[in-house]
Amino acid sequence: MKHSFVFATNNAHKLDEVRAIAGKRIEIRSLHDIHCMADIPETGDTLEENAIQKARYVYDRYHCACFADDTGLEVEALDGAPGVYSARYAGDAHNADANVQKLLCVLKDTENRTARFRTVFALIVEGKVHLFEGCVNGRIIRTRRGAGGFGYDPVFMPDGFDKTFAELGEEVKNKISHRAVAAQKLFRFLGQ
Ligand code: IMP
Repeated sequence: MKHSFVFATNNAHKLDEVRAIAGKRIEIRSLHDIHCMADIPETGDTLEENAIQKARYVYDRYHCACFADDTGLEVEALDGAPGVYSARYAGDAHNADANVQKLLCVLKDTENRTARFRTVFALIVEGKVHLFEGCVNGRIIRTRRGAGGFGYDPVFMPDGFDKTFAELGEEVKNKISHRAVAAQKLFRFLGQ
């Protein structure tokens, strides 16, 4: 029988990506599917803490196998910022446009554009937490390019490509992204 897991995220883009990466291997249910309408808190100081906090929130209340991810954009010239604070970089509104705008502004006079996306997945099965990490290296370009993806995708160009994640499209992103790497590790752990 196919494994079934809840992906504890309110981000529809992440849900679509992880479902596409999983393909037919496992069934991924959304928070909506389990009638969880909560805005799950993420108050940790690391990606690991936040991923565990989100997965634990669902596991404790709904008693089902579940996983959550937390992602940060780590910019070398900013000593790894915005990192775990990527969603709130330009303030509590979690506004992706404003976050990108602030990043471009902060890096305006910076030659070193090296950055990476890092994702941590926390999986909880039978009360036990398992962590999986995925990274993709690249650089921050100077102006937005592309209409696909979400968040910082229009300004992130992965190494080995001359297009941003927003230009590359979901098929390529879902093969090489931080989230794809972490999710593949999770699926392998599950024997899928
Ligand atoms: P979180 O994991 O939902 O907390 O995301 C942190 C921040 O990074 C948010 O502003 C997201 O929009 C952004 N983000 C997360 N994953 C990606 C991605 O795959 N591409 C671009 N931005 C992302």
